[in-house]
This record gives sequence, C-alpha cells and structure tokens, in this order.
Amino acid sequence: MIKLAPSILSADFARLLEDVKKVENAGCEYLHIDVMDGHFVPNITLGPGVVKSLRKDVNMVFDAHLMIENPDSYIKEFVDAGCDIIVVHQEACKHLHRTIQNIKSYNIKAGVALNPATPIDTIKHVLEDVDMVLIMTVNPGFGGQSFIEGMISKIKELKGLIDSKGLNVDIQVDGGIKPDNVLDVVKAGANVIVAGSAIFNSENIQETVDLFRKNASK
Ligand code: DX5
Ligand code: ZN
Repeated sequence: MIKLAPSILSADFARLLEDVKKVENAGCEYLHIDVMDGHFVPNITLGPGVVKSLRKDVNMVFDAHLMIENPDSYIKEFVDAGCDIIVVHQEACKHLHRTIQNIKSYNIKAGVALNPATPIDTIKHVLEDVDMVLIMTVNPGFGGQSFIEGMISKIKELKGLIDSKGLNVDIQVDGGIKPDNVLDVVKAGANVIVAGSAIFNSENIQETVDLFRKNASK
C-alpha cells in the first residue's frame, strides 16, 4: 500500500502545527519536510529548529528532504531534531556513498533524491545502501508546479532496477502529484507519495487524503 507524505511547503507557516495536525489526523503516514538553503534551490524554507519544535507534538514519520549544499554539515542537527528519514540530493553530494553512510550511522533511514535531469545510473551503485529513492517529478524549489510527464518512464526504470537486484527500496515521488495522476505514478512503481499543494490547498483535507488513497488503489 502507498504511504502519503504531505509536504509542509504548502502549509501555512504561521499555523504550522495546526496544519500538520490536520494531515496527521487525516491518517497521513509521513510528514515531508522540505529544507531549502537558497543555494541548491532558489528558495529558503526552514531548519532543524522548526523540526524540533514540531517533533514534540507530532507522531508521524519525519521525512526530511534536504535541498541544500553540503548536506553532511547538517545531518547530525536534523537527526537530533527528530528526523526519521533523511533524503539528500545526488547532485549536492561529492561523496554520495559517504553521506549515505553518515546518515545510517545514526540508525535512521537514508534516501537519495534525483532531479528530473539526473539519470538513474548515477545511483546504481548505492542502491543497496539506501532505504528510499526520491524521483523529483518537478524541478525542486517550489510547490504548485506541474508534473513532468517524462518522469513516468524514469520511475519504471528505477522500479525495474530495484526488482532486478531483488532489493526492498521505497520509491518516493515529489512534485505535481494530484488525485488525478497518483495512479499513473503508483502503476509505474512509486509507493511513497508526496503532495503539497494538492493536500494543503484543498478545502477538505480528509476528503482529499481519502481520494488519493482511493485513486491510488484502482
Ligand atoms: C519541491 C518540493 C516539494 C513540493 C511539492 O521542491 O520538494 O515537496 O512541496 O509540492 P506540490 O505537491 O505542490 O508540487
Ligand atoms: Zn520535497
């Protein structure tokens, strides 16, 4: 079954806990925390302090998507803040294998993200080491962008590679996912679904979450 990971980028930052409790109460499994540094991506969001504050009141799996340069310098801080999964970008890591081992040394899950233009081949040799691969289905930086259709074949390629190696690696998709295209990404092989604007900008969060699950299981 799929796991739903609402992205807090589309929440109201002035009412962050209130908004996060809405998605927790609606049964979403992961909280997708978009961390941006204004260098790796042209936007700035939040740091470990905000994560630590949320951790006290939220029981969801904290899934940190680090869109930052030099992620190694911040991994311990995000672990201490209470993250359960840390995802780094392949494009931001000079020594990706080392960074993954660094994350895993804290006994949490490690993931690697790929921008739309980055080939699957670039992570082939670390696939055994990660718990999750994040296929960006938009260029990172902003919520509310349109899904890039060409990513469907990329998800299928990754799923094929994972299965051919007999691995148990989650495939997360992030960007432009809505109730009306969730089935396409699930059929291609994705099982962890990030959705920002589709969930937080909806009138009724519970209904939208239920619709995501219903459509994903068609
Ligand atoms: C984009 C972020 C996404 C974003 C998704 O860089 O990584 O998590 O919030 O937002 P939607 O679902 O609105 O495309
Ligand atoms: Zn994200």
